[in-house]
Amino acid sequence: MEDLSLHILDIAENSIAAKADLINIEIVEDERADTLTIRITDNGVGMDEETLKRVLDPFFTTKRVRNFGLGIPLLAQSAEECNGRLSIISTPGGGTKIQATFQRSHMDMKPLGDLGATIVTLIAGHPEIDYELIYKKADYTYEINTAELKRGLEDQDITSPPILDFIKNHVNSGISHC
Ligand SMILES: Nc1ncnc2c1ncn2[C@@H]1O[C@H](COP(=O)(O)OP(=O)(O)O)[C@@H](O)[C@H]1O
Ligand SMILES: [Mg+2]
Repeated sequence: MEDLSLHILDIAENSIAAKADLINIEIVEDERADTLTIRITDNGVGMDEETLKRVLDPFFTTKRVRNFGLGIPLLAQSAEECNGRLSIISTPGGGTKIQATFQRSHMDMKPLGDLGATIVTLIAGHPEIDYELIYKKADYTYEINTAELKRGLEDQDITSPPILDFIKNHVNSGISHC
């Protein structure tokens, strides 16, 4: 995966598959601690212990059971390559929180990439889901949430091309603020 936005898309697609109707994506850059943290929280069906074990067990990353995916192991690998780690909190019926940390200054650190395109892809694919994005760096916070956006749009369709384009640009300029 060449950038973090694609990892985020992949992890959020798991949340969609898990029937979430609210997906929160939080990105925090901490220059002092030299970390970048990505947190993706959903209110989907969650994972039982067996699934959680399989997702986190490096054995299954290399000798994978057929039909068992790579999304989470790939993100874990990207984080670990940058002195970071991945953690998951999930319970059946209680949703899932996936957190990946990276050392920002690490030479293998991937760029954030086109986060606007990721958000717009998610919205276009599943407009009924509410997405929240929060980006923080030092004193700066950028936030967008589709539930609020939809209320503002009244009878306009959030998946119409000009609106998706607006959202994409809003996100990308919001996160490149500093
Ligand atoms: N947010 C989530 N909620 C519930 N289950 C999840 C979630 N994310 C992952 N899983 C479970 O972990 C498995 C592995 O996920 P992943 O590594 O992305 O591969 P894939 O999506 O291709 O199966 C999924 O098939 C699913 O059973
Ligand atoms: Mg997946």
